[in-house]
Amino acid sequence: MFAKDGKAKDVSTPRICDVVWHDGEFIKWNDARVHVMSHVLHYGSSIFEGIRCYATKRGPAVFRLREHMQRFLNSAKIYRMDHGLSLDQLFDASVELVRRSGLEQCYIRPILFRSLDEAHPAFGVNPFPNPLACYIGAWDWGKYLGDEAIEKGVDVCVSTWNRLTPNSMPAMAKSGANYMNSQLIKMEALVNGFAEGIALDDRGYVSEGSGENIFMVTGDTVLTPPLSSSILAGITRDSVIQICNELGIHVKERSIQRAALYVADELFFSGTAAEITPIRSVDRITVGSGGRGEITTKIQNAFFEITKGERAAPGKWLTYVNEKKEAQPNSTSRGGSIHAGNEPSGDDSQAILVYQTASGD
Ligand SMILES: Cc1ncc(COP(=O)(O)O)c(C=O)c1O
Repeated sequence: MFAKDGKAKDVSTPRICDVVWHDGEFIKWNDARVHVMSHVLHYGSSIFEGIRCYATKRGPAVFRLREHMQRFLNSAKIYRMDHGLSLDQLFDASVELVRRSGLEQCYIRPILFRSLDEAHPAFGVNPFPNPLACYIGAWDWGKYLGDEAIEKGVDVCVSTWNRLTPNSMPAMAKSGANYMNSQLIKMEALVNGFAEGIALDDRGYVSEGSGENIFMVTGDTVLTPPLSSSILAGITRDSVIQICNELGIHVKERSIQRAALYVADELFFSGTAAEITPIRSVDRITVGSGGRGEITTKIQNAFFEITKGERAAPGKWLTYVNEKKEAQPNSTSRGGSIHAGNEPSGDDSQAILVYQTASGD
């Protein structure tokens, strides 16, 4: 689907929020800058999140914000980033940012990184002497894999690059450095005329796309690689699993061989940016009938209805940013008090990020 200009093509960005949250206050977009000698630029020391806020009849609604912020905190913990930020603070900051942006829908990008203390600069690999900085930005973002992709599907390849090994770079942390691996996968795909690449894990089993999890439909069963295949524990992936359970579709986590991709009935990607995107060919081999399959369509429809607030979600997945704050009588010290309303406290968001969640044996 990419012609010669494929390399230069980017996701459309109709609008950017002109304020950015920075360590507890809102600053102008133009003031959100770093020194070029910051640790993060040289050694990749950042962790981040990608969250979508959807337009609904009740105004903008952030999708699974609590789970995203829990993963953000997990990533920071893995990299020993001692930041002192609470889940509630990050949650409230994101909601307030969307409110201030005036955007009806957007993508929210929290980032925490090792910066530079200009009065006491430190340039070594040791990250500890460097101060941490946390920012949250937002912008309106189009369809990640192209406007037609959601309906027609994308052509992808299996990458010659493998996914990270669990004991080199932990895939369960969403760290900036992991995306050098993703960039190799993505660039190779683009220069060869594909929309995306699928990486195998270090044992040769299917892992994930450069920025998406993958699902395979075979007969009436939906399969997806387990967390042990060096995948990011995707929040959209978890949503797909829960939607399948609700729709009565069998879903299982299984190691998947590369060849199984070619003979699958349907394949699709899941991710915050890519949402649910069908895959119509792998390595120029047509998948199923070469378009969006029946089961993919069912899951995709349910997903978009939920994100639009038109269908009840399996949990409290939407945070309506312009609605009145609700009291949270059950708030615990773990969750603290939630100011932005309508999200549950004490949920299982941590569990989905660490353990396997699909039903089946
Ligand atoms: C490497 C990778 N895998 C999977 C995903 C999907 O995760 P999620 O559904 O939480 O966005 C992403 C996107 O964040 C990703 O970058």
